[in-house]
Amino acid sequence: MTTKQLFFILLISGFSTVSFAKQKPILKVISESLEFSVLQSNGLFKKMVEIPERLPRTVNKEGELVTAKDNWWTSGFFPGTLWYLYEYSKTDELKQAAQAMTHRVEKQQFTTDNHDVGLMIFCSYGNGLRLTKDKSYEQVIINAAKSLSTRFNPTNGTIKSWDRKEWQFPVIIDNMMNLELLTQATKLTGDSSFNKIAVSHADTTMKYHFRPDASSYHLANYFSNKAGYIERMTHQGYANESSWARGQSWGLYGYTMMYRETGKKEYLEHAIKIANFIASHPNLPKDKIPYWDFNAPNIPNELRDASAGAVIASALVELSTFTDKKLSKKYRTLAEQMIRSLASPAYRAELGQNGNFILKHSVGFMAKNSEVDAPLTYADYYFVEALMRYRKLFNKK
Ligand code: GLY
Repeated sequence: MTTKQLFFILLISGFSTVSFAKQKPILKVISESLEFSVLQSNGLFKKMVEIPERLPRTVNKEGELVTAKDNWWTSGFFPGTLWYLYEYSKTDELKQAAQAMTHRVEKQQFTTDNHDVGLMIFCSYGNGLRLTKDKSYEQVIINAAKSLSTRFNPTNGTIKSWDRKEWQFPVIIDNMMNLELLTQATKLTGDSSFNKIAVSHADTTMKYHFRPDASSYHLANYFSNKAGYIERMTHQGYANESSWARGQSWGLYGYTMMYRETGKKEYLEHAIKIANFIASHPNLPKDKIPYWDFNAPNIPNELRDASAGAVIASALVELSTFTDKKLSKKYRTLAEQMIRSLASPAYRAELGQNGNFILKHSVGFMAKNSEVDAPLTYADYYFVEALMRYRKLFNKK
């Protein structure tokens, strides 16, 4: 651990004990963060205009912007962030920025060699369609759903995440995030086969990917020629039996979303179990932003993952709308605490700093020392989504 990282850990420990004394109203925190996000993301867009075809990804150790090709799994997040910020600000400038970045991802509709086509196309084109009703976006979403469906195996009931030789049929918990593309394609086409694939994947994942306490493995290696799995393990977490924080966030978000999309009670019950696992975990820190793995070996001297915090906050805001009063209050309160923490100087960048990303302190892939204690484009996306969701639900003006 570097001195800078240690300083950050001390800073947030102090922050978590003193900062809740005099609180700003949450809606004020949210509007300030959205105003900041508009300015910060406009700055990032201006940089991206100078870098054709690429999409923002993170910042390297030297503080320089790192971009990615459109086929990198995170390519849809910056376009999606711009769409949410357009939804907030309604300015033509942001609409044009969102359109321009969305078009950079267009080719990915035909990607069939990995599962991330769901995230790449739904966060960009899905949000664009929701806000503009642009007909040309519909076909992109339908094509992408067809591409993702090619990876479905009806024998084991799941969508294959990666084509890699070391596993027979790898499925990672992250894959739950791709299913909204499929449910949307059924709505657009009336073809129920997309929805059926999404439900089969979610059902099978629920059966095989989780432990009795509702924590999830990162990766399940399925048989390709019969039901069931060969082995379960981690890829980005600390250990096979640990709970990688972003994995838990993907599961929570995925089952909350699948309940919204299908009305299947089992998904709601499962999302509640995951939320309760997170909320009551003894290693969830006071400021509620998880360590990068709930079982990382040196807690409390471990890095936080703001991206997991942002995904969990966004999912909890939505989950709070589906549950009884007591649970709603619990989830909304936890989401508020997370939003307050992420919006504080401990996690939110200064204007023009942090490569123009909104949040600091995420962890991409610890074991590879890649994107460790760094900004990540998806942390920003889910943070802005959480802000927008909260604002929409509780500020009915
Ligand atoms: N989907 C890859 C990750 O969460 O890092």
